[in-house]
Order: sequence, then C-alpha cells, then structure tokens
Amino acid sequence: MCQSFLIFVEVILIGVTLDSESVQGDTTEIMSSARRGRFHGKPFGGNASQQSTSGVSDQLIKNGRKSGQLNLSSRGLNAAAESRGDADFDNDERWWDQVELTKLILASNKIQDLSEDVKLLSALQSLDIHDNELQGLPETLGELHQLQKLNVSHNKLSSLPSALFSCPQLVYLHLEHNNLSELPNELGNLVELDDLDVSNNKLCTLPATIGQLVKLKSINLSNNNLTVLPSQIQFLKGIRTLDLTHNQLTSLPKELGYMRSLEQLYVRHNKLKELPLLEHCSNLKELHLGNNLLTCFGSDQLQCLNSLTVLDVRDNKIAIVPVEITQLTTLERLDISNNDVSALPYELGNMVHLKSLVVDGNPMRSIRRDIIARGSEGIKKYLRSRIEMPEEPKKAAAVSSSGSGQTGLFGGGEQVDAHSVKVSRALDYSGKKAEEVPPEIWELGVSTQVTDLNLSKNQIKQWPSSLVLLSDWVVTVNLGFNKLTALHTDLGLCLRLQNLDLRNNCLSTLPKEMESLQNLHTLILSVNRFGEVPAVVYKLKSLETLLISGNQVAQIDVSSLRQLDKLSSLDLQNNNISVVPPELGLCTNLRSLLLSGNPCRNPRPAILNKGTDALLDYLRGRIVQ
Ligand SMILES: *[C@@H]1O[C@H](CO)[C@@H](O)[C@H](O)[C@H]1NC(C)=O
Ligand SMILES: *[C@@H]1O[C@H](CO)[C@@H](O)[C@H](O)[C@H]1NC(C)=O
Ligand SMILES: *[C@@H]1O[C@H](CO)[C@@H](O)[C@H](O)[C@H]1NC(C)=O
Ligand SMILES: *[C@@H]1O[C@H](CO)[C@@H](O)[C@H](O)[C@H]1NC(C)=O
Ligand SMILES: *[C@@H]1O[C@H](CO)[C@@H](O)[C@H](O)[C@H]1NC(C)=O
Ligand SMILES: *[C@@H]1O[C@H](CO)[C@@H](O)[C@H](O)[C@H]1NC(C)=O
Ligand SMILES: *[C@@H]1O[C@H](CO)[C@@H](O)[C@H](O)[C@H]1NC(C)=O
Ligand SMILES: *[C@@H]1O[C@H](CO)[C@@H](O)[C@H](O)[C@H]1NC(C)=O
Repeated sequence: MCQSFLIFVEVILIGVTLDSESVQGDTTEIMSSARRGRFHGKPFGGNASQQSTSGVSDQLIKNGRKSGQLNLSSRGLNAAAESRGDADFDNDERWWDQVELTKLILASNKIQDLSEDVKLLSALQSLDIHDNELQGLPETLGELHQLQKLNVSHNKLSSLPSALFSCPQLVYLHLEHNNLSELPNELGNLVELDDLDVSNNKLCTLPATIGQLVKLKSINLSNNNLTVLPSQIQFLKGIRTLDLTHNQLTSLPKELGYMRSLEQLYVRHNKLKELPLLEHCSNLKELHLGNNLLTCFGSDQLQCLNSLTVLDVRDNKIAIVPVEITQLTTLERLDISNNDVSALPYELGNMVHLKSLVVDGNPMRSIRRDIIARGSEGIKKYLRSRIEMPEEPKKAAAVSSSGSGQTGLFGGGEQVDAHSVKVSRALDYSGKKAEEVPPEIWELGVSTQVTDLNLSKNQIKQWPSSLVLLSDWVVTVNLGFNKLTALHTDLGLCLRLQNLDLRNNCLSTLPKEMESLQNLHTLILSVNRFGEVPAVVYKLKSLETLLISGNQVAQIDVSSLRQLDKLSSLDLQNNNISVVPPELGLCTNLRSLLLSGNPCRNPRPAILNKGTDALLDYLRGRIVQ
C-alpha cells in the first residue's frame, strides 16, 4: 500500500542529494547521473546538516507518511527526478501507520522535470508544483485517476501532454504564467472542471470545445493574445467570473449575452469599440470595460443589467452618458474617468445606491472643477440641484407623431397587426433588435401605403434599400437608435418626408440628394459623428427643427443658418463649439436655442440658462457695431 509513497520519497531525495553535491541548475548532468545510479546512500540518513540545507527533515517525511500530505515547497529542490528503484531506507515506521499520499506540494523549488514515476502516486488528489522550472509534464500524469487539483502555474510549459486531458475528474487546473500558445481540443474532456486559470500565456484562440466545460464557474484568460472568442462560450452556463483583461479583443461574441450566471466580467485593456449586448446577464454585478475604445453607451446595452453594481468604463472615448444609465438602479460604482464626457445627466443625482461616481479626466463643461473635487456625493448633490432648477428652455418638439397609432401593432411576438396598420397607416417595427427589416414588413408597408414608419431601436447597419418602395407616401421616418454609418441617395426620393429622426446612429455625412426634401420640417441628427452641420441641411428651406446635439460640431455658420428662415428650434448642445458668433443673435426666428455642453467660455452657463430670448439678446449686445 505504501510502496508508491516510499518510491516517491526516494525520487525527491535524489533531488535533494544532488542539490548538495552538484552544480546548481545543471540538470543534464544531474539527470544522467541519476540514471546511472551514482547516488546511493540512505535517503534519510547521512549528513544531517546537509539535509537541513535542503530543508527536508526526517520528521517532515514521517508526518507525510502518516497524513498522506507532503509539503516540500521552498526547499531548493531542483529535480524531482527518476527513481533509483531500490527502496532501501531506514524505515522505523509501522506500515499500518502509513497512508498513501493524496496531497503533494512541491511549489517554489527549481524543479525542471517531473519524474514519470509520479504515476506511482496513484492516490494523489492534489498536486501543486507551481513556481518551478518545468518545461513539460510527463504523459504518465494521465494515470493519476484520483487527481482533482493540479497547479502548474509559474513554470515554463510550452505544451501540455495529451494524457492530461484524460484526467476527467480534474476540478481545478491552474496553468497561469506559462508559455502556452494554444489549448488542445481535448480540453473539452475535462467536464468536471470548475476553476480554470490560463492567464499570462500566449493564447491567440480558444478551442470551440471549451463549450463542453459546463461546470466551470471561473475562468481566467487574462494576459493572453486572444483576438476572438468562440461563440460556444455561451454554453458555459455556470460561469460566474470571466476574466479577459489584457487581450486583443475588438468585440465580444453576442452569444456572451446568454451567460446567465455571469456575475463578474472583466474586459479591461482590450480593443472593444462597442459595449457588448448582455441581454440575459441579469446576474451580472460587475462589468469592467476600462481601457478600451468605446465611444458610446448604447442605451440597449444598459437594459437588462438588473443587478449591476459596478460599471467601469474608464479610459475610453465615450462622449455621452445617456440618461438611460439611470435604469441601472442597483448601481453603486460608476467610473467614467478619462473619457470625452462633457455633461452628465442630472438624473444621476437621484440614483440612491450610487456611492462612487468617478468623473475625473473629462472635458466637463457643465460641471465646474471645484464641484468635481467635492467627490461623489458633492457631484450628485449638484446634479440634483440642477433638476430642481427652473425649467430650461423647452426642448424642441420631438418628431411629430401625426398619424402614428402606436396601439395594437404588435400583439406580442413578431406579428404586426395588419388591420391596424391599414387603419392608422403607421407601421411600427421598432425595438426588434433586427439587423434587417423582414420583407413581409415592407410588403405590408406597400399594401397599406404607410405614411409613418418607425424602425427605431433596431440594429440596422445597412441602409434599408426597400424603403424606397414607400417613397411615395412616407411623411415620418424614424431610424433612430440604429447603427447606420451612411444614408442612401434614395432618401432624396421621399419627397413627402416631413419628419426624419436619425438620432443615435454613427453618421458623419448626409447625401446631397437630400436637398430635394423640401417638405422636411424636423431633422434629428443628435448623437452621431457629425463634425459639422452638413451643407445640405442649409438647403432644406422648410426646416423648423434641427437637433444635432451630441456630435462634434465645431462651428456655427451663421450666414448659412440665416438662410433657414423657418428654423425655430436649434439644439447644438454637447458639441465641440469653441466660439459662439454674436451674429447668431440675429436669428430672431429661433424660439429654442440650446448651446450648453460646449467648450466655449462665452456665453457663460448662467446666460445659457436664462432662456432663448435672453441668450439672443445677449449675443446681439456683443455684436461690434
Ligand atoms: C556534514 O557535511 C558538512 C559539510 O558538507 C561537514 O562540514 C560535516 O562535517 C559533515 N558532518 C558529518 C557528521 O559527516
Ligand atoms: C508548505 O510549506 C511552505 C514553506 O514551509 C509554507 O509557506 C506553505 O504555507 C505550506 N503550504 C501548505 C498548503 O501547507
Ligand atoms: C496555485 O499557484 C498559485 C501561484 O501561481 C497560487 O497563488 C495558488 O494559491 C495555487 N493554488 C493552490 C490551490 O494552491
Ligand atoms: C515559448 O514557446 C515558444 C514556442 O511557442 C518557444 O519558441 C520559446 O522558446 C518558448 N519560450 C520559453 C521561455 O520556453
Ligand atoms: C486573473 O489572473 C490575473 C493574473 O494571473 C490576476 O491578476 C487576476 O486577479 C485574475 N482574475 C481573477 C478574477 O481572479
Ligand atoms: C499577439 O498577436 C499579435 C497580432 O495579433 C502579434 O503581432 C504578436 O506577436 C502576438 N504576441 C504574442 C506574444 O504572441
Ligand atoms: C417609434 O418607436 C420608438 C421606440 O419604440 C418610440 O419611442 C417612438 O415614440 C415611436 N414613434 C415615433 C413616431 O417615432
Ligand atoms: C474640437 O475642436 C478642437 C479645435 O477647436 C480640435 O483641436 C479638436 O480635435 C476637436 N475635437 C474633436 C473631438 O473633434
């Protein structure tokens, strides 16, 4: 019963003897010497002071034989080499006191090679060899059928023996800080695995079979070179902690949104451009997205995160914090430091659980620095005080919803109530998360000659080319909250168009063909990527309302604006306007002019808050005669 233990001890002690007899670190010689059987002598006998330099005492070994656990960490071992085979040691223990070794710790030595004889430790359940110099592992590890925990972190492994993956009872596998460039498909055999750490390796991909590890609760993939994740990651239904920090990810698979048990997700230091849509992750408590390339919070992305307590988006390029963030009612910590945020939604001040609000390092225009310096509570208090301020100039009316019957279009599910579309001539296909509008919807639109088309809050990236089918009738088109990067010249064919809502897309230009839209009176371009008011806008002679807040507009072109003599509402908030020309005061048709959240020193916030008439007055007063 105890033979394996004895042989093992022999194995270790060869290393010890070597340590004191030969040159440190020269394992080639050590190994061949060991093989030639040069080293004899009683493992526990001999020179006691020599043993104590290696630090392995008789007593330790004896205790190990009784408890089945042996801790030989930090004892300067440099080879857990080969067995000498002859177990000739001074054994004063009674065999019935001895148990098989179940736990062995060889951590923090200088071991370069683990003996094949490790297979003889057939009762071993836990093997910890972290922090050694292993370059490989013996295939015989696969014969340890009891092994549940294996810690080979902080070694020099470049590959793993395939036999390792025939230890299906393995629960804990730590491989962090090695030199692994891939994980084999056989990884999927380790179906009992609960805790897997492969951080600090050189992984570029993961095998799709990772999806078979359904019992995993924690996986650490940080500090690798991953560029994509396999979609099969969605099958890891038990995962609570997923660490992807310091990789090369440009996006996360949408399937990640199905990991319902996820509680902590770390994706800091990657190259993400968009917040992932984590629609079913209702248990997510911590979301760490710092040091990426995020430009905005999609409001969709903020839905469903009913348990979120920590949201870290520091060191990104986010320009707008949408008011939808207040839907995260459980939020306790919000870190948006080092972004491009110029204003915060006042409603943040009312989030009762929010204890830590970090906004340093933003070009904050609406909040003075001394207020920011007051810390989370100070900022929240200030934001609350702003909510109670006298009404700001009335926001321009949103898209007129003339004829938009919102009722009964969807009897649940995807079915559109054709009858009601026919009656109202309003077709609502909003909030479907659709990348494309299905052909039936267009057919319905044509057959009912809809005037009011609502496609907002989808995932539309490509211009919906079938929209031209409705060009003879549409009066109102809402394409807000999509992912459009460009519009199509076809838009110019919708000659009856009066209201066009394009807010929250990724637009930076408008097609010049839009010039033909001479009935357009409301145009919403807020939260896009415009660096200027597109020239074609100044040709829309019927324009009454132009909302272009939350862009990067840098200049106000007064002479062009004055060509729009019906313009009564202009929203230029949260742009990059550094100078407000006094001549803007001559646009006396304006009933609502919003300019806050720009980097201009003048007019001061106090004046901006007095309302449009006072503001225009002030500007006129500054015109040099
Ligand atoms: C043990 O070894 C040390 C140095 O290697 C030596 O000084 C000492 O005399 C030895 N003791 C015995 C009992 O052989
Ligand atoms: C093993 O021994 C080392 C050094 O003596 C000690 O620091 C460590 O805590 C021990 N580990 C366990 C699990 O007992
Ligand atoms: C595994 O090794 C790491 C160091 O690389 C150590 O921090 C960890 O505690 C070890 N795990 C166990 C279960 O001993
Ligand atoms: C790491 O692995 C690569 C092959 O993937 C190898 O070329 C390199 O020598 C290894 N480095 C070390 C320190 O073992
Ligand atoms: C993942 O591993 C890294 C480095 O090995 C460590 O710093 C980090 O704390 C680990 N993540 C988790 C969630 O434990
Ligand atoms: C990581 O991947 C990049 C390309 O994606 C490559 O240039 C680089 O050498 C890789 N680094 C390592 C350590 O494999
Ligand atoms: C269109 O749908 C959105 C989202 O469901 C809704 O907010 C909006 O009021 C709808 N109507 C119009 C005319 O935009
Ligand atoms: C804002 O305008 C300044 C010049 O006034 C320019 O240097 C800067 O790049 C602009 N920022 C953005 C984000 O366009």
